[in-house]
Amino acid sequence: MTLKYINNQLSINGHDVKTIAEQYGTPLFIYDENMIREQCRRFHNALQHSGLKYSISYASKAFTSIQLFNIMQEENMGLDVVSEGELYAALQSKIDASTIHFHGNNKTDREIEFAILSGVEYFVIDSIEEISRINTIASTLNTVVNAILRINPGVEAHTHEFIQTGQEDSKFGLSIKHGLAIQGIHALQNAPFINFRGVHFHIGSQIFESTGTIRTIELVIEWLVNENISIDILNIGGGFSIRYTEDDLQYPIEDGIRNITETLKSECRKFNYALPEISLEPGRSIVGEAGITVYEVGTVKEIPHTNCYISIDGGMSDHIRTALYNAKYELLLVNRNEKSDKTVTIAGKLCESGDIIARNTKLPSSVSRGDLLVVKSTGAYHYSMSSNYNQMLKPSVVFVSNENIREVIKRQTLEHLFANEVI
Ligand code: LLP
Repeated sequence: MTLKYINNQLSINGHDVKTIAEQYGTPLFIYDENMIREQCRRFHNALQHSGLKYSISYASKAFTSIQLFNIMQEENMGLDVVSEGELYAALQSKIDASTIHFHGNNKTDREIEFAILSGVEYFVIDSIEEISRINTIASTLNTVVNAILRINPGVEAHTHEFIQTGQEDSKFGLSIKHGLAIQGIHALQNAPFINFRGVHFHIGSQIFESTGTIRTIELVIEWLVNENISIDILNIGGGFSIRYTEDDLQYPIEDGIRNITETLKSECRKFNYALPEISLEPGRSIVGEAGITVYEVGTVKEIPHTNCYISIDGGMSDHIRTALYNAKYELLLVNRNEKSDKTVTIAGKLCESGDIIARNTKLPSSVSRGDLLVVKSTGAYHYSMSSNYNQMLKPSVVFVSNENIREVIKRQTLEHLFANEVI
């Protein structure tokens, strides 16, 4: 995404941010469609270089939108869904159901039936008990379904505790160390209405280099060899990091994927083990840096010698990551280009002290009511984690490309808030 000042006004890919905000209102999410496509192509190119059979599915939880899914289809991406709702959204788009993978550590019977009837490519199994449930439902529907098993490799990724998933004490996957993973594979192999296709792991999110994944691949291939299990698919999940601020490292997609695929090839060669197809599930790295949020400044509260609170017209209802993970963000003033010389705290308007967007960040000292601010890198896990707390309305979402600007999700209206109330 190119954010730059033209004639003293912030622009995104040459489009004036203030004009877009005036048309669609604030808070507003704006995505750079070209960047989304470019990220998909970078993963494709890196995997094509490896010469391996591969597939990439976009982790739809990062940002669920029908227009986005249509772009994913155009960019040859499959989809990873974890709920009836995500699957339903996917089915409204051009995505082919046979490229959808159904995840989840507590799939309901209804979800399993819905996924089978929709024709998803495979289930990612997360527990022993779900195997017999899926087998029974598949037998009732008189069909055989594909499944891969999510294993817990016991590898700790260096990231925030709440988005770490590969450590032993985790609700996700079946542990190799405790023998649950092999028990799961045997159960899958013995289930007549399930076709066991391979294994899956996801060691965490916002991982900035390939070491953890490489160690996990080595461990998993050796384990499969020792257990005499062959697989068609090795799904290594997502988790590729993005830059929220200048201090963050963006995952080196080309080098990282090369290291990962070379490791897979050499491990398979070492054990004379048949090379599986490699699958990836990137979410954040596809949409994260391609999205920004635009807010309007309201109250500015200067507490002498203490802090300056700048409150904006959204908050934790559309931006929960600062409150939840103490995540850090960079902001820009939209309607003029001035030096960021003042330390301020950007607060949301919701009724909670923890409703902060950015603590002790730098902005021009002239910022006042009516100014517009941009928060960078909000494309992943912002809209999708938004809520109606304090009866806030979910913002509208706009895609810009070089050629055009289009609204892809409309702002909620007050009527939406009470649509389900029984009066
Ligand atoms: N595959 C699996 C099995 C996952 O659990 C996840 C993310 C992904 C793929 C995609 O990971 P990504 O490439 O987006 O990092 N709400 C948190 C992130 C939770 C991630 C959950 N699983 C956040 O805002 O940072």
